[in-house]
Amino acid sequence: MTKKSDRKIPSVGFGMWKIAEDDCAASVYKAIKLGYRHLDSASDYGNEVQVGEGIKHAIDDGLCRREDLWVTSKLWNTYHAKEHVGPALQKTLDDLQLDYLDLYLIHFPIAQRYVDFKERYPAGWFFDPDVDEPRMHLEKVPLHETWSAMEEQYQNGLTHRIGVCNYNTGLMHDLLSYAKIKPAMLQIESHPYLTQEALLRLCKMNDIAVTAFSPLGALSYLELDMANETESVLEQPVVVAAAKRLGKTPAQIVLRWGVQRGTTIIPKSTKEHRMIENADLFNFELSEREMTEISALNQNRRFNDPGVFCEAAFNRFHPIYD
Ligand code: A2P
Repeated sequence: MTKKSDRKIPSVGFGMWKIAEDDCAASVYKAIKLGYRHLDSASDYGNEVQVGEGIKHAIDDGLCRREDLWVTSKLWNTYHAKEHVGPALQKTLDDLQLDYLDLYLIHFPIAQRYVDFKERYPAGWFFDPDVDEPRMHLEKVPLHETWSAMEEQYQNGLTHRIGVCNYNTGLMHDLLSYAKIKPAMLQIESHPYLTQEALLRLCKMNDIAVTAFSPLGALSYLELDMANETESVLEQPVVVAAAKRLGKTPAQIVLRWGVQRGTTIIPKSTKEHRMIENADLFNFELSEREMTEISALNQNRRFNDPGVFCEAAFNRFHPIYD
C-alpha cells in the first residue's frame, strides 16, 4: 500500500450522473468553489470532457491543487476484456485532463460487447442504436479477468485505488477470493428505502469503504420515469420531524443519515443553493433513535435495477439482483 492510498475519501462527493454537457464544466467549477473536493465521474455519463474543463479551470484559478481533489471514475461495461481496460482508463484520464485517478471502479458486473471508441463514445447500453431493433449485447468476460486488468492499472500508478459498483454479497465474496489488490470501495445505490445492511456489514468486516449513490432515493429517478413523486423519502414524518428539531431541510436529514451510518454520499445538483445545502451536514447530529427510525423506513426499493431498465429500454432481460 502506498501512502497515497491511505488518504480518506471526503464523505460528501459531487455526483455527475445526468449533468448535461452544457452545464457540466460550470457545475464542476462551482462545486469546487463551494468546497467540494470529491468528484464522482464515469465514462458512461458522457460528460468527462466537461468535467475535465471544470477541474482545469478551478486549478488554473487557484481554487485547489490536483492533490486536494479526489476524482473517481468508472470502467464502462463494453471495456471489461483485459485488453480494453487500460485504454478505457487512459481515455477517461485524457478526457479529464488528469494523469491519475484517485479511484477507478468497475461500473456494473455486466460485460457488454466491445464498441470501439471511434465508433461511439460513450458506448451506452445498445450494441448498435441504429439498427431496426437495437438491443444490448453481452460479452463472455468473467469478472476476475476485468479485476486483474484493474489491478494492472493500479500497479501502473494510473489509479491510486480500485473498486467495484453494483456488486451483491455473492460477487463481493467471489471478488475477495481472488483479488490480489483488495477493493478499496464498493459503490451501491443506498438511501432510507434501500438500506443494504448486509452489504454494509460485509464491507465493514473486510475494511472496504462504501459509497451510496442516489442518496436522496427517488428524486434521482423522477426525470427518468423510474420513480414517482409519492416515493420521495423527504415527506416521511420521521424525516420531517428531525428536520424541524434540528432546523435543517429534509434532504439534509436524509444525507446526514447516510454520512452518520458511515457511507460516503454523492448527491448531485446543478443548483447552487442545493449544492451548499447538500454539503452542509457537519454541524448537527441525528440521535440514535432518529437513525434507527430512518433506517426502519427500508423497503428494499431499488430504483436503479438493470433487471428492470434493461428490459424496459434496452431489449434484454438482464437481472443482477435477486
Ligand atoms: P437538481 O439537480 O435540479 O437540484 P441524487 O443525488 O440522489 O442522484 O439526486 C439528485 C436529484 O435530486 C436531482 O434531481 C436533484 O435535482 C435533486 N436534488 C439534489 N439536491 C436536492 C436537495 N437538497 N433537495 C431537493 N432535491 C435535490
